[in-house]
Parts: sequence; structure tokens; C-alpha cells
Amino acid sequence: MQRPRVVVVGSANMDLVVMTPVLPAPGETVFGSEFHQVAGGKGANQAIAASRAGAEAVLLGAIGSDSLGVTLKARIAASGVDVSRLRVVYGASGVALVTVDAAGENTIVVTPGANAALTGLTADELTAVRDAEVLVAQLEIPVQTVTEAALAARDAGTRVVLNATPARRLPAELLAAVDLLVCSVPEARAVLDGAGRPAPDGLPAELLAGLLGVVPRVVLTLGPQGAWYADRELPEPVHVAPVRVEVVDSTAAGDAFTAALAVAWGEGRDLVDAVRWASAAAAGCSRRMGASVALPERTEIEQLYAAGWPQPPGSPSDLLSPGTMET
Ligand code: RIB
Repeated sequence: MQRPRVVVVGSANMDLVVMTPVLPAPGETVFGSEFHQVAGGKGANQAIAASRAGAEAVLLGAIGSDSLGVTLKARIAASGVDVSRLRVVYGASGVALVTVDAAGENTIVVTPGANAALTGLTADELTAVRDAEVLVAQLEIPVQTVTEAALAARDAGTRVVLNATPARRLPAELLAAVDLLVCSVPEARAVLDGAGRPAPDGLPAELLAGLLGVVPRVVLTLGPQGAWYADRELPEPVHVAPVRVEVVDSTAAGDAFTAALAVAWGEGRDLVDAVRWASAAAAGCSRRMGASVALPERTEIEQLYAAGWPQPPGSPSDLLSPGTMET
């Protein structure tokens, strides 16, 4: 099978990760058990995840001129990602402070650093977008840059997958260029809010119906409850149950999910099956600590997918070790 070419436009951060039994409350001090410095950032994670899942992956992003930037670039390149267009910007690299509790839940604070300077895509960067089968973007870089990339992709027939995280209101011209939106419930609400459509309080089906008024295809991720896929051609949304694994750290599980989804779609899978494959990738990522270092290789995704699918409609996949996963 031909490897799809996936271009990711997005952030690169150095993650400073502390494992702690319980996340501290505001004003509280707690002891952590481990500290790790791991390459991360939603853009870098998704590029690495796409490469490991089987794509020819290119990262359009920016690192700082500090030592963290040097380390970041080396680690991203080591995963097979084309970093030849990664910009080096004078100043600090993006940094994320990540705390992870015993249940694998996390909190993340990001200082964008160089990521904020990723503006005005060059002709060469836009050519990379046009030459790809799929463009993948998230929202840790300026939204104007995401919009530029998405418009170039749309004009060239490159599919646009937007992972609308972290939650932000988005301009109409960006949403008009999106082929597939991937978001959680709060992110969905922010999208609907920004589109001037009241976000319904209730069920995923209502949120999905609202989102289909804005984009043609949506994946709504619900963490341990799995994900919903909806598009304008389907009579009703399809629920995809999660692949159950023992969760160590859910950091970057959403990145593994989005990247695997893009790769599977680029390979020609139908999107419901692609969501299943992406769920297997997210589950694989959740079994390990850290962001980029936890992203699964294709063989692991295939193993989890084979164990988890097909399954009787409506039943969770509990063929693997018990626990839950987050996407
Ligand atoms: O999605 C996980 C990522 O979010 C982390 O790697 C951190 O850098 C933040 O960007």
C-alpha cells in the first residue's frame, strides 16, 4: 500500500511532566513521584503519530533558538518526520507543564513561545500542504495560520482534518475549508458558539446535528465513552466504543487518535472504520507515560484494532486488560 502523505501544521513543545498520586488543588503543594522531559505539542505529536501509523509525515511548525528547540527537532526527526521546513525562531521554544495523576488524568499549561510566531506560511510551506493527501491541524498556533493552510489545502484538493483543540472560537472561512472536524464536547461547544449557533445542552446527537450545520463530517470524542462519527450523507450518527486498556497516562491520546484517523482516511478506509482504527491508536498511547514517547507504532495499532474489532454492536471491547481510555 502506498503511504499517504500527511502534512501537520501545528505546535512543538517540550513537555515537563510530573507524575503525582493526586493533582494539587489551587494553592496546594503535593509531592510528585517522577519527572520526565518529553517532546510534545499537539502538532509534533500528531506528526510523529502519523509517521508511526504509516504515513509520510511532514511537520510545519516553529521551535525556539534555545537548547530545548535543538532537542525537540532531533527527537521529532528521530521518529521519521520530515522536519526540513521546521522554522527556528529567535527566543524560547514552546513549553508545556504537565501533571499526571494515578488514574492517568492530566492537567496541561502551555506557554506557546516560538509557536506563536508561526505566521505567514511561505510558498514552500504552502506547496507542502498542496502536495499532501491530508492536512492535519490543531489550535496551539495562530488560527490565521491554520486558516491559510486549510484554504491552500482546499484549493488543491488536499483533505483537511481539524482537531479543534484547545477549545477556541473559529472563523467561518476556516470552518468552510474543513472536511473532517475532530473535537471533544467542550471544543464542540466553542465551535458552535463561534459559528453563532446555540450549543445544545443535551445529547451528543444534538451536538453532532449542530456541527453538521458547520462542517460536512465530525468525530465527537467522549474519552472513556468512545466516540461518535457523523456526516451529512449518513442517516444517523454511528457510535464507536473505546478499546479498553489499562490507562497509565492519557496525554497525547487525542493526538494519536487524530493522526491515525487521518492516516486511515488517507489510505482509503471508510471513516467509521477509520474511527475504530484511531480508537485503537489512542488506546495504545494511553498505556504509556508521556506524549511523543507513548505514541504507538502501526503494528501495535493493528494488534489493538484486531483485538477490539469487529465486536457485537453496542458492546464495549473488553477483550484486553480492564481499565479505560481517553481520546
Ligand atoms: O495533546 C498533548 C499535548 O498538549 C502535550 O504534548 C502538550 O505539549 C500540549 O500541547
